[in-house]
Amino acid sequence: MSELVLFKNRGKRRHISLDEYRADGGYAGLEKAVKTMTPAEVTKAVLDSGLKGRGGAGFPAGRKWGGVPADSPHPRYVVCNADEMEPGTFKDRIIINADPHLLIEGMILSAYSIGGDKGVIFIRPSYEMEAELLTIEIEEARAANLLGNNILGTDFSFDIIVHRSGGRYICGESGSQQRAIMGVRPNPIETGYRSAVRGLWDRPTIVNNVETLSNVPGIIRNGVEWFKGLSAVVGGDGNKLYPVSGMVANPDCFELPCGVTLRQIIFEHAGGMLPGKTFKAALPGGTSTTFMPEHLLDIPMDFDTLKKHNLRLGTGAVIVFDKDTCLVAATLNMMHYFARESCGWCTPCRDGLPLVLDLLERIESGTGTPEDVATLRRTVEAMEYANCAFAPGAAAPVLGLLDYFMDEVMEHITSKACPFGSHAALPWSGDSSAVITTWPGAPEGSCPGARPRPKPRRIVSCPI
Ligand SMILES: Cc1cc2nc3c(=O)[nH]c(=O)nc-3n(C[C@H](O)[C@H](O)[C@H](O)COP(=O)(O)O)c2cc1C
Ligand code: SF4
Repeated sequence: MSELVLFKNRGKRRHISLDEYRADGGYAGLEKAVKTMTPAEVTKAVLDSGLKGRGGAGFPAGRKWGGVPADSPHPRYVVCNADEMEPGTFKDRIIINADPHLLIEGMILSAYSIGGDKGVIFIRPSYEMEAELLTIEIEEARAANLLGNNILGTDFSFDIIVHRSGGRYICGESGSQQRAIMGVRPNPIETGYRSAVRGLWDRPTIVNNVETLSNVPGIIRNGVEWFKGLSAVVGGDGNKLYPVSGMVANPDCFELPCGVTLRQIIFEHAGGMLPGKTFKAALPGGTSTTFMPEHLLDIPMDFDTLKKHNLRLGTGAVIVFDKDTCLVAATLNMMHYFARESCGWCTPCRDGLPLVLDLLERIESGTGTPEDVATLRRTVEAMEYANCAFAPGAAAPVLGLLDYFMDEVMEHITSKACPFGSHAALPWSGDSSAVITTWPGAPEGSCPGARPRPKPRRIVSCPI
């Protein structure tokens, strides 16, 4: 059993209090940093640790923090991305519920590194319990002089607020997220923009994922070599959280050495396939990654190795499909989500995704043609030219379907029906006799799944 760091306090059916956290060495990293290290030394430790961002892109955290110019103006912001709307991903929520101070300490250390003044935890609205828990624990930390003015008696001051998202997937993208916090339309900002220089209210801003930040206290307290040594592969960075869902016997979120293989995750930790089911493919990091078929099961699941194989680790959320599942129908399902969540800013995504949806619908219903398949490929390939990473992410499972499961796609066309009989079971199949579930009291003809949303809070100036 490898050492647990992020999930050390999981499974107690309650979160760890500030006192318990401190009794177990919590905030020792912060004390060490603010009393014995310079901000540049903290940045260097995070850089040397090789810690890569766990939000999906795998960008080195130390490099991001080092990108804030020393002479840049204040206030400087640290944003914690707790949006977690990538389908299949449920790791950040567990950290917050088990060990909220791990995240809070990580944010304070990040702020110390960049000379940050204000912190924002941006959290999805369905995580209301977690938002309330964080608010209470932030208050506890403030009362203990771990947040607020003159932290631990030094001249370093920093505070955190919790900001609820309006609830769209695109608000997880860092540029959109900053616009959402500022109360303007949350579309991604044009490429070439560096928020470490000009982010929230034109001030330096660092955005990091919950899991990324929660790794920082251990790095500062125990050192770079300890962190590197946790990994299963040379050059790997610590442990990684792998949430697993789909057709496995034991779906759960596992903290494992970074770089274990997909086979180990599925067949050792998640208990293998459900009885009577055979493995067909898995998405390695949420629905914005490509299908990995059986022959790729032994590739180490870390950012660098997957990249070498032209794959992406994404959030590390493994979604497992069995041989009885139609991957055309499964991909169509994902495209409904992506088409609905596009922010509509650029053409390849706004107009491409409805076309992808239409083409997949035709193929799945048995009315598709070989030309539709060619158009499908051209359309998803064009998504590389979109303005943000949303569209290439949406394209990933479609490309995996076409690259590895073309036989299955063509079978729909030659037999003029779904070989799995999936189509009739889908609520959007156009079968008027299908039972479509909407929310109670919904107007007739409402879109299934769409629910009235709380009005987003609009903040027009910095609240802290
Ligand atoms: C459409 C889209 C949604 C995203 N959603 C999230 C999210 O929910 N949480 C997250 O941490 N990063 C998300 N990201 C990645 C962020 O843009 C950003 O890279 C990340 O928060 C940076 O933190 P990290 O370096 O610690 O990974 C998303 C990116 C895209 C394109
Ligand atoms: S790729 Fe999609 S989500 Fe991103 S800017 Fe373009 S339309 Fe918006």
